[in-house]
Amino acid sequence: MRVLVTGGAGFIGSHTVVALMEAGHEPVVLDNLSNSRASVIRRVGEITGSAPEFHEMDIRDQEALTELASQGFDACVHFAALKAVGESVEQPIRYYENNVAGTISLLSVLLETGIENFVFSSSATVYGIPQSLPMTEDMPIGEATNPYGQSKIMMEQVLADVQIANPTWSVSLLRYFNPVGAHHSSLIGEDPRGIPNNLMPYVAQVAEGRLPKLRVFGGDYPTPDGTGIRDFIHVVDLAAGHVAALEGLAGKPGVHIHNLGTGRGHSVLELVSAYEGASGQPIPYEIVERRAGDVAESWADVSKARSELGWATERDLIDMCRDSWGWQSRAK
Ligand code: NAD
Ligand code: UFG
Repeated sequence: MRVLVTGGAGFIGSHTVVALMEAGHEPVVLDNLSNSRASVIRRVGEITGSAPEFHEMDIRDQEALTELASQGFDACVHFAALKAVGESVEQPIRYYENNVAGTISLLSVLLETGIENFVFSSSATVYGIPQSLPMTEDMPIGEATNPYGQSKIMMEQVLADVQIANPTWSVSLLRYFNPVGAHHSSLIGEDPRGIPNNLMPYVAQVAEGRLPKLRVFGGDYPTPDGTGIRDFIHVVDLAAGHVAALEGLAGKPGVHIHNLGTGRGHSVLELVSAYEGASGQPIPYEIVERRAGDVAESWADVSKARSELGWATERDLIDMCRDSWGWQSRAK
């Protein structure tokens, strides 16, 4: 398949481009480089043997996008978005503009150019506070606690309406749990600008000595060690989930919803201890107040993805920490 990959220079996008190329597909990357670097494309080429076609472009540039999309694609995988939860609270217009208006602009071009297979990066955040665990795809959509989460809920709804109006479309909503890790080559990984918001990149910088200590947000959750529990998923497994969704769902009309996680939760302190083991470095931490908007526990029921997509994760928490550390400790 020839696949238009928006946000393909980013963390999850770049790993998915590698997976698509390794599976014999032809991804074409579109990215405005607002949160990534062009060198990622070259590095993808080092991993796969040839760099993918790359266009520095914004999804809101309808004219350029129409010209590109007219070249003929079988599918679009849409990663491009802003993703910092705290920043979305401070800059809601920027987030809705980029994530919601940007996706609508992209969809109108796809409608015009006849690209009918669409894969969307959604998030477990759409479940809000989980009513029960593990989280299943048929659980009701919850309340978003920030504009970033709200933008994912809104786009899931827009996509469902677009599919009703265009019944030949295949829309795949992939609800990611907590993507972490890096490619085992250490050539691509997560490269946050400024101080990381998310746990593993923060822990990685503490291990490296760039940050003095981790602040653990909350030690009084109703969990075995009192810290939050998440379903961390290796980004290479997540990337494979996109290939499985494309191969399994392209040409199958409907809205298809799948959780992408491991089905297992690990606490913040379990992750810290696994990272100390993988890196051989101490991770000093202190337990502080809970962070507003965080849920105590989140992990996926992955049986639907397993049975319908034939996909399951292969990598555990140790693999995630080892590959994150390989990337972090490599001279960039
Ligand atoms: P990322 O920031 O590394 O990648 C996003 C890419 O999109 C970046 O390369 C950025 O430059 C590009 N981009 C942003 N706005 C654009 C625009 N208007 N036009 C063109 N390119 C644009 O983030 P990621 O972690 O790889 O996330 C990818 C997707 O997965 C996002 O939609 C994100 O919301 C979603 N997601 C991420 C997580 C996570 O924890 N990383 C969890 C759930 C969902
Ligand atoms: N945490 C800390 N200290 C930190 C950072 C995080 O203790 O410095 C804790 C959090 O409180 C939470 C856990 O580590 O218990 C995971 O936090 P992350 O920020 O890494 O991830 P979240 O689960 O909050 O959010 C992630 C993505 C969002 C997405 C959400 C869906 O970053 O984009 O999952 O559940 F919306």
